Amino acid sequence: MTLAEMAVAVLNTADGREKTALSRRHAASWFAARKAGAPLPIGSASPPMRPARPAKPELLPPRDMPRRRPGNEAGRIALLHAVAHIELNAVDLHWDIIARFADVEMPLGWYDDWVKSADEESKHFNLMADCLEAAGSCYGALPAHAGMWRAAEDTASDMLGRLAVVPMVLEARGLDVTPGMIEIFQKAGNTDAVAALETIYAEEVGHVAYGSKWFNFLCGRHNLDPKDVFHELVRKYFHSTLKPPFNEEKRAEAGLPPDFYWPLTGD
Ligand SMILES: [Fe+2]
Ligand SMILES: [Fe+2]
Repeated sequence: MTLAEMAVAVLNTADGREKTALSRRHAASWFAARKAGAPLPIGSASPPMRPARPAKPELLPPRDMPRRRPGNEAGRIALLHAVAHIELNAVDLHWDIIARFADVEMPLGWYDDWVKSADEESKHFNLMADCLEAAGSCYGALPAHAGMWRAAEDTASDMLGRLAVVPMVLEARGLDVTPGMIEIFQKAGNTDAVAALETIYAEEVGHVAYGSKWFNFLCGRHNLDPKDVFHELVRKYFHSTLKPPFNEEKRAEAGLPPDFYWPLTGD
């Protein structure tokens, strides 16, 4: 199987637990072949415009989503459910970037980074699904945000745009908001959720870093100024301003300088 075929197989698997199990198996095959010095061929494949999704959760436009109140147990379950949904989409986003742009000549490190990210997102989804089940709920029990795949559709033919919007805006946003979530579960005494979110928080720094690394690489290849191109692409594909407060510390660790994101706040 080529890497692009593996990516498409994950994208076309609907059930969350099945998707993440397949994703982890394919990641293991990729890295086993890399370690053996015989990398799998990248190949080419046609990824679906939208990944397969389970019948539940029901997907609602953001304005119809019930408001979350993390002060009570139901609100905290809703928060875990929202994170599980983000992680499941993230699994698909990382496999999608591999398959969607498989025709662009890239160093093997490009594939290593996104396969590793997809593997970690699969673990993150499972961690969140475990927390939901421990609380007597499950992924699919609540409605979820319908707009999650929009960034992928908007940037389906623009590799730099994909990197700008997905890892460097959306995943960077995760770095801003995760410490607040960890605090909510600390206060509630949910140590499993705290440990899961801390794993997510630590590994997401890497995903943002891969985004900025390859964004800079591609700008260098085409002799473009990364900061100017980043501003142009985020304005083109991301239909909102960026919202402070930013986690400047973790963004710096991930190679995102302040002059990339502050000019996009609209202030
Ligand atoms: Fe994640
Ligand atoms: Fe991520």
